[in-house]
Parts: sequence; C-alpha cells; structure tokens
Amino acid sequence: MLIEGEVVSGFGEGRYFLSLPPYKKAFKKILGFVPYEGTLNIKLRNISKEKFKEAFKYSKYIETEDFEFEGKKFFGVKVFPVEIIIKDKKIKGAVVLPKKTYHSEDIVEIVAPIKLRDEFGLKDGDLVKIQLLQ
Ligand code: CDP
Repeated sequence: MLIEGEVVSGFGEGRYFLSLPPYKKAFKKILGFVPYEGTLNIKLRNISKEKFKEAFKYSKYIETEDFEFEGKKFFGVKVFPVEIIIKDKKIKGAVVLPKKTYHSEDIVEIVAPIKLRDEFGLKDGDLVKIQLLQ
C-alpha cells in the first residue's frame, strides 16, 4: 500500500525524543540504524484517517519498551519499517506511532538515517510517499 502525504512542520518535539539514548538504542536494534534526531511530519493526502489506521492495524510493527530517563517516564512507540519515496528516490525508514501524541490523526511521523529535508531539498507542502513493507 502506497501512502501519500505532504511535508508539514511540527512543534520540534521529535528532535527531543530522538535525542534520548533509550529511544536511539531501541531504534538501532529494530531498524539497524540510529535515526537522524527528528521526525519528518507528513500530512496524509490520498487516504482517510480510517483507512490509514486500518492499513497499519494489519502491518507488522515492533513496539519499544516504556522507560524512565533522568527521572521522567517515557512511553513506548510502535515502529513500522517502511520505504520512503521522495522525488522518485527510495530510502529505508520507519513510521513511528507514539502511544501519546499531540498531533491530529492525519499526521504521520517518519524517521530515517538522514535529514530528509536537506538530502532532498524538501519544503513544507512537498509530496512524500510511504510504502509499507508488510
Ligand atoms: O519541528 P518538527 O517537529 O517538525 O521536527 P523535528 O522532529 O524536531 O525535526 C527537526 C527538523 O528535521 C524538522 O524540520 C523535520 O522536518 C526535519 N527532519 C528531516 O528532514 N528528516 C528526518 N529524517 C527527520 C526530521
């Protein structure tokens, strides 16, 4: 299934979470790479929220453990390995669905080994496609 969306800006919290060592370790274990410290936020374009949820319900994912870091409690996230397609180039990454989020449900957060905005010259509104792997 190919999901299309456009790049949007968030509140900068992805950078914070991806800088925490326990998340870094968990992502490395699951995906084989340490993600760039941030999440690229994608607003769904070709699919309803309901369809998206359905597609992900039947996909394989790995859930990271809840943990405590510097006295604060953090919740696990669901990690779905995907292929990210930008301007006809493909790159391995993952959709991350937090247990708790401030986003409305039509925003998806993706992680990748590199900063996608820099690598592909992405601006808000640009098209990004996500291919679920299973
Ligand atoms: O500020 P925002 O919540 O949108 O993003 P962030 O998670 O704090 O990430 C910092 C910046 O890196 C944002 O501009 C993201 O869109 C971008 N980013 C990227 O280009 N490639 C990634 N793999 C992850 C984040």
